[in-house]
Amino acid sequence: MAMIETVNLTKKYGELIALDNLNLTIDEGTCFGFIGPNGAGKTTTIKILATLLKPTWGEARIDGKTVGYQNHLIRPLIGYVPDFMGAYQDMTVAEYLEFFAACYGLTGAKRETTIADVLALTDLSYKAASEVNGLSRGMQQRLAVARVLLHDPKVLLMDEPSSGLDPRARIEMRELLKELRRMGKTILISSHILYELGELCNAVGVIEQGKLIFAGPVSEIMARAKVGQVVQLVVEERTNEAAELLGKLKGVLRVDIADESGVRRIDVTLEPNAVLSPSELASRLLANGFRLARLHPEQVSLETAFMRLTKGIVS
Ligand SMILES: Nc1ncnc2c1ncn2[C@@H]1O[C@H](COP(=O)(O)OP(=O)(O)O)[C@@H](O)[C@H]1O
Ligand SMILES: [Mg+2]
Repeated sequence: MAMIETVNLTKKYGELIALDNLNLTIDEGTCFGFIGPNGAGKTTTIKILATLLKPTWGEARIDGKTVGYQNHLIRPLIGYVPDFMGAYQDMTVAEYLEFFAACYGLTGAKRETTIADVLALTDLSYKAASEVNGLSRGMQQRLAVARVLLHDPKVLLMDEPSSGLDPRARIEMRELLKELRRMGKTILISSHILYELGELCNAVGVIEQGKLIFAGPVSEIMARAKVGQVVQLVVEERTNEAAELLGKLKGVLRVDIADESGVRRIDVTLEPNAVLSPSELASRLLANGFRLARLHPEQVSLETAFMRLTKGIVS
């Protein structure tokens, strides 16, 4: 059954069409990655689902209940983690959670055990007595998640929870999200980085300028967008020959030579889901007598993907 559903969801800000007939269906227990560049309409969609914004037309439903008509029934079901957490002056982590637990009507022993549970789940137990403002950004993000778990919602709406986090904090956030997925929560998580959601989500939707342009499993999206990893290589001499050699390898989609302030760089685009790894490219070159000055596997971002698609380089 669809836990989250939008039907021709449209939102206009004045003349600007931020969402254009968006149709999403997210089944119960799914971790759905909502991907799109800045300004695509992710936050607008999430705020509507969180009952904080009204659609201009169309409908949004959570567990069959309609936003704008049954908000009081929707709010207990959802936990919304906004893209920006406000500042909480002079408050400890425990006080912060006690405040929100009280808002949700939790009292006495139930309140204390619930707070202890969410602190343990988000790995923040040892920070209970610390000031919220003194926490790292990664911890603050986990605290924001802890807060929305207090009322044990079925649905989590998370707006770019990993943005601004360092690599370690990103991994910790991903582990936390995996744990929530295992608990059976339905999760909608937005990001502008495609690879970030790959191993976490069982489905993704790609939004651009308010329109859903792909929806389905991650592997299918990468293949349909013809997005493969790009590996940048610089060899000490015989660049053309090296490019030719790489172009013949199975798993290589295309090879380009770029000029980087006088240095000739080879950009190898691997096929989506390529079996070939960047280090294999290096060993092939070395085996053929080339000397490698640089090897840099680029992370595939959605922006890169769309740049290539819209430029018509791959289609
Ligand atoms: N309150 C607002 N008033 C006017 N325009 C807005 C408002 N909020 C968002 N927009 C515009 O709507 C579009 C979608 O924004 P948003 O949903 O924030 O995208 P995303 O979260 O994907 O970056 C953008 O063009 C943005 O500038
Ligand atoms: Mg946003």
